[in-house]
Amino acid sequence: MSHTLTAKGFALYPNHLDKSAQESLVSDLREVVRAAPMFHPVTPRGQAMSVKMTAAGQFGWISDNRGYRYQSHHPQGMSWPQIPASILTLWNTLSDCTREPECCLINWYGEGARMGMHQDKDETDFSCPVVSISLGDDGLFRMGNIERGGKTESVWLKSGDIVVMGGPARLAHHGVDRIRFGSSSLLPQHGRINITLRVVT
Ligand code: SIN
Ligand code: FE2
Repeated sequence: MSHTLTAKGFALYPNHLDKSAQESLVSDLREVVRAAPMFHPVTPRGQAMSVKMTAAGQFGWISDNRGYRYQSHHPQGMSWPQIPASILTLWNTLSDCTREPECCLINWYGEGARMGMHQDKDETDFSCPVVSISLGDDGLFRMGNIERGGKTESVWLKSGDIVVMGGPARLAHHGVDRIRFGSSSLLPQHGRINITLRVVT
């Protein structure tokens, strides 16, 4: 398996965050989760997703029996907390986009969690890339094509890695096949965190 992907518009910044930057990001996320607790989304067909989610920013991404959408409030009713400044700084450094991210989605993968192949297409503006930060256990990331099916490529994302998906990669199908539970010591309970930054409107 290669250590990056060859797809156009996909950029991997391996180990962009050192251990202390990773730790301070985790403590920023703990505050977000205190204000906006993680929840287990359900797909529109009624299946529980294996990841837990919460969000920061103007919008959070929600999946429930009414469908997929961006929503300005948590399922419990409160507005989402602000995106931590440390995370905005990473966007400003790596996104090459003049707009600010409006959604900072936080996915938590416990043992056995995965994410099926999908496109990020619930936004109305695709001109800015998606910036995706990995923390904790290794995750096997797979990327395919804008159309369903066809050839795919995979790479293990490690704690501190950042991925930017822009241009033709912005609407490419992608997912996480599995994690290596316990492979990182960053999180005391193990598991993997993925932070995804997107412009929505
Ligand atoms: C996602 O596509 O929403 C998550 C990707 C990842 O966990 O690396
Ligand atoms: Fe995605």
